[in-house]
Amino acid sequence: MAELKGRVIVITGGETGIGRSTVELLAARGAHIVIGGVLDDEGAATVEAVKRQGGSAEYIRTDVRFLDQVDNLVEGAVSRHSKIDALINNAAVFDGFVNVLETTDGLWEQIMNVNLRGPFWTCRAVIPHMLKAGSGKIVNISSIGGIAGYADGPAYTASKHGLIGFTKQIACEYASQGIAINAVCPGAIETNVRGNSAKLLGDHAPAKMGGAGSDNSWLARVVPANRKGKPEEIAELIAFLVSDKASYINGQSFVIDGGWTAK
Ligand SMILES: NC(=O)c1ccc[n+]([C@@H]2O[C@H](COP(=O)([O-])OP(=O)(O)OC[C@H]3O[C@@H](n4cnc5c(N)ncnc54)[C@H](O)[C@@H]3O)[C@@H](O)[C@H]2O)c1
Repeated sequence: MAELKGRVIVITGGETGIGRSTVELLAARGAHIVIGGVLDDEGAATVEAVKRQGGSAEYIRTDVRFLDQVDNLVEGAVSRHSKIDALINNAAVFDGFVNVLETTDGLWEQIMNVNLRGPFWTCRAVIPHMLKAGSGKIVNISSIGGIAGYADGPAYTASKHGLIGFTKQIACEYASQGIAINAVCPGAIETNVRGNSAKLLGDHAPAKMGGAGSDNSWLARVVPANRKGKPEEIAELIAFLVSDKASYINGQSFVIDGGWTAK
């Protein structure tokens, strides 16, 4: 299936988890993927895996907390490929379920800078190129923590709620100019998000980073599907939203959680 043939897609945090599955799926459908991330070994391994499967991808080290690195990612993609058809803001770190009293200023700032300011910066850099082309798709990876207050800690929850508001505002602003901007809200997915977050947050990582969810006994209680989702299942939704099939969808948030929030 080559429905994305010739498309250039930029994704942040595409080295692992949901991002990596998305990279592999989009590349298998013909797109060239530009991955911006901070886990260099995993980034190289993802590019290698895509190439082994006959696809095309590159990795540009990009810490989305730094504006010059975000600009370098976008300019790198545009200078080499002359366009960006889609942007997926997937990079994020988790706050380990600490409560508001345990949330330090440093943790709050790190979570906001990665999860919310990062997408603001990538969108601000990418949208002018999409406006010039008269088309573009942006998918912001939020969370069920972006629509409810029970799934995560306060910093992560606020950042993911903010990302949905940001998505709606820019979608309204640019819908008439060919740009579609949507959010995806996964529930509990089988990834190493806590492990990666603990590593990336360093001194800001709360002691509780292992947190609820390390033992899966809660799943039967809260998730009707009684299992975690697979990264590939999220990738399918993202792939649909960046495709031409999603031609009249804008400013929406799509929950994909095995029924968790339906309870
Ligand atoms: N796994 C879940 O249960 C779950 C649930 C809801 C939402 N999500 C969201 O899905 C997305 C992917 O998470 P995942 O579960 O695959 O976890 P993950 O830790 O495997 O992926 C996060 C990615 O973000 C990258 N990243 C972190 N800080 C960065 C920075 N400063 N600059 C650039 N890249 C950075 C990491 O290197 C990693 O590749 C995130 O937005 C996350 O909030 C995950």
